[in-house]
Order: sequence, then structure tokens, then C-alpha cells
Amino acid sequence: AFEVVANRSGKRVRVEGDETIVQALGRIGIKVQMSCEQGVCGTCLCTVLEGTPDHRDVFLTDEEKADNDQILLCCSRARTGTLVLDI
Ligand code: FES
Repeated sequence: AFEVVANRSGKRVRVEGDETIVQALGRIGIKVQMSCEQGVCGTCLCTVLEGTPDHRDVFLTDEEKADNDQILLCCSRARTGTLVLDI
């Protein structure tokens, strides 16, 4: 599990091993627009302000993934204990 901070509201939530970031954000009332839910379309793209994503999508290029400043919230996870998102 890891923690996500929704920077615009300052709300934080723990993302359990069996749920996605989108599902965890939903529990604290933050809705994320989604389409494919499989890391393909890019609809759920979000800016990462702090922390390192664990990229599980096929949308971002390898270069974009290495920059670690964007994440697909429907499928990707975190390599750090906390991810601060611009949402
Ligand atoms: Fe398509 Fe997340 S909803 S990449």
C-alpha cells in the first residue's frame, strides 16, 4: 500500500494492494475521468508533483515514464510511500 495526496484539496488516502488509485480517490470523493481503465487511452493522465510512480500503462513513452512527472491513475502505482498528485 502507499499513500496518495490530492494536492488541490489537501486530502490524502491510502491505496490498498487490491485497489487502483482511482478507486482510492473515489472513496474520498474525488472523481477521475476514465475510459479504457487499462492504461491505453490516456484519459486518466495526471501530473505528479512529488514521489515516484510505478508505471503500469502502455500510453506514456519510455522517456515520459523516466521523467516521473505524469501518471495514469487507472492502473499505475507508486514506488515511493507517498505520491502527491495535481488533482
Ligand atoms: Fe485509459 Fe487510464 S482510463 S489510460
